Amino acid sequence: MGKFKVSILGATGMVGQAFVLLLNDHPYFEVKHLVASDRREGKKYRDSTRWLLPGKIPENVGELELESIDKFLGEKKNTENKIVFSALPSDVAAEVEPELSSAGYFVFSNASAMRYREDVPILIPEANVDSISLIEKQGFPQAGFVVTNANCSTTGLAVALAPLRKFGIEQVFVSTYQSISGAGYPGIASLDILGNVLPYIEGEEKKIQVELKKILGVSAEVYPYCFRVPVDFGHLETIWVKFEKQVNESDIREAWEELSGESFGIPTMPKKPIVYLEDSFNPQPRLAFAGDIPGMVVFTGRLRKENNMIGFVLLVNNIIKGAAGGSVQNAEVFVKKYGRVLGWEK
Ligand SMILES: NC(=O)c1ccc[n+]([C@@H]2O[C@H](COP(=O)([O-])OP(=O)(O)OC[C@H]3O[C@@H](n4cnc5c(N)ncnc54)[C@H](OP(=O)(O)O)[C@@H]3O)[C@@H](O)[C@H]2O)c1
Repeated sequence: MGKFKVSILGATGMVGQAFVLLLNDHPYFEVKHLVASDRREGKKYRDSTRWLLPGKIPENVGELELESIDKFLGEKKNTENKIVFSALPSDVAAEVEPELSSAGYFVFSNASAMRYREDVPILIPEANVDSISLIEKQGFPQAGFVVTNANCSTTGLAVALAPLRKFGIEQVFVSTYQSISGAGYPGIASLDILGNVLPYIEGEEKKIQVELKKILGVSAEVYPYCFRVPVDFGHLETIWVKFEKQVNESDIREAWEELSGESFGIPTMPKKPIVYLEDSFNPQPRLAFAGDIPGMVVFTGRLRKENNMIGFVLLVNNIIKGAAGGSVQNAEVFVKKYGRVLGWEK
């Protein structure tokens, strides 16, 4: 069987561009439809996109014509192009994504609109891979579905804490240092952020509190502070955790080390999803695109124990692992688990 034809909604934005990059030469998926706002309808992707990622726009995708959401919805392409990657603003997603799933599409979304519904998974393979089966509660295989991934900061935190659940997570104190690409493009005015740090990101702290518990299935207390910093890509986080059990730095290192990416059997999972860096000056956002699958590794470092608390620093690439890359992994998980049900052999 050939590749699955997929669509990207919000293709011209920060996360949409990351989808274009990641789906270029992907072993399962091939981009066929690109959707942006009405003002770009009929324009070539290459001519209408301010490309902000490393490298160039892939040749074949650059030639595709942008569609409006109405044109896309009107054409009912769902016989062969069922998989849709969504990088829409949340208010637009709130209307479009339920409509798409009702029309039989398989939606992998970055928007927060549907994350908090009980039958919608916030899927992060390293933390809750089995939650993909929630799509059956949405009516799959007879109907379409929405699978979300988490807010970008929550993703890094969930990946790092997932292997530590066995120690009993009681309290989490987290401060995030979030890059400006996290606010989309054009995003924050340069005069607000150049040489400055903004001590508040609307809605972000609440998202971390709610989403972390849903993903990890824990009732821990979570105390976040979220900052915007003048960095282009990559969110840094400092974390202090209180566990029920007595743990040392070596227990944490061992738990991270034991997490094998190969066990997931999907193409874009790094061999080691969590990589600990010994050097005290790391992780830094300059490593945002490092790793065997660039941008997919969560880097940790500066591990220490003070009294009964374990502290560490992590780095997550907000637009790759924290957004488009997470969605692509989720679609790979879906194909692996349900491909046969659909007669898709992968
Ligand atoms: N940036 C991150 O690090 C990150 C991480 C995790 C999750 N997210 C989430 O991912 C989504 C996209 O974020 P982003 O940072 O990529 O935002 P962005 O750079 O502002 O891009 C938004 C995209 O949506 C399109 N769009 C806007 N209104 C539309 C409409 N009415 N119909 C169709 N398309 C429309 C835009 O098209 P035009 O170019 O034509 O306006 C653009 O392609 C958001 O829900 C965000 O919360 C972002």
